[in-house]
Amino acid sequence: MPRHPKSDPFSGWRTAVAVALLVVTGLVWGAPPAEAEYADVVLNRLSEANGMRPVIYPHWFHRIRFRCKVCHSELGFKMRAGSNDINMMKLMDGKYCGMCHNNNVAWGLDNCHRCHSGRPGMETGVRGGHKAGGPGFW
Ligand code: HEC
Ligand code: HEC
Ligand code: HEC
Repeated sequence: MPRHPKSDPFSGWRTAVAVALLVVTGLVWGAPPAEAEYADVVLNRLSEANGMRPVIYPHWFHRIRFRCKVCHSELGFKMRAGSNDINMMKLMDGKYCGMCHNNNVAWGLDNCHRCHSGRPGMETGVRGGHKAGGPGFW
């Protein structure tokens, strides 16, 4: 199951127990695979090609502050890493991250490095399993 074998601390029977627990919690909460919920998402479809560091989006950090549907239904974020066509113009229009990062709900778009904090070369995708690091960690 793990897409990130290096971040999986379990082995043997403990893996079986962990998997069973993930399945059970998934069923109870009706949530999609737990892994992504806790991880960070790297967004680098445009950033590096345009001279900026990749964006690190700390999913867990946001998820404990807002309900899933705020972003995945009301703000229209599709639930697949890299599947959203996000760019700076849209953020400045108040869409996607720009809905909150507007110096009102949260700090504003002038804080470039807080979002563009990834190491050069990082590819779009989910990082870290349940060991999310947040900005700058990767
Ligand atoms: C503050 C906004 C926000 C909240 C709240 C939020 N998400 Fe997300 N979620 C995102 C963003 C942004 C992405 C990455 C989209 C992209 O890469 O284009 C994402 C990606 C995902 C993915 C895809 C990961 C992958 O493997 O491709 C899943 C699954 C997901 N979220 C589930 C959830 C669940 C379940 C909740 C509630 C428990 C939740 N999200 C709450 C913003 C949010
Ligand atoms: C629903 C509102 C909402 C959306 C949408 C949202 N954020 Fe945030 N974000 C917040 C809030 C609130 C904070 C905490 C601000 C603070 O601590 O002052 C935050 C904090 C952060 C942090 C700092 C985390 C830390 O560890 O300090 C980063 C980085 C970040 N957001 C990136 C993004 C990116 C990238 C997107 C779009 C993919 C996004 N956010 C979308 C509300 C949002
Ligand atoms: C709230 C988070 C956030 C902040 C703050 C932010 N960006 Fe971005 N930026 C993004 C996201 C998300 C993308 C799309 C990521 C991708 O797929 O490469 C992006 C993309 C870009 C791109 C790619 C080209 C384009 O037109 O979108 C450039 C260049 C860029 N940002 C520059 C900046 C600069 C300069 C600042 C500061 C003035 C800044 N960004 C602040 C989240 C942010």
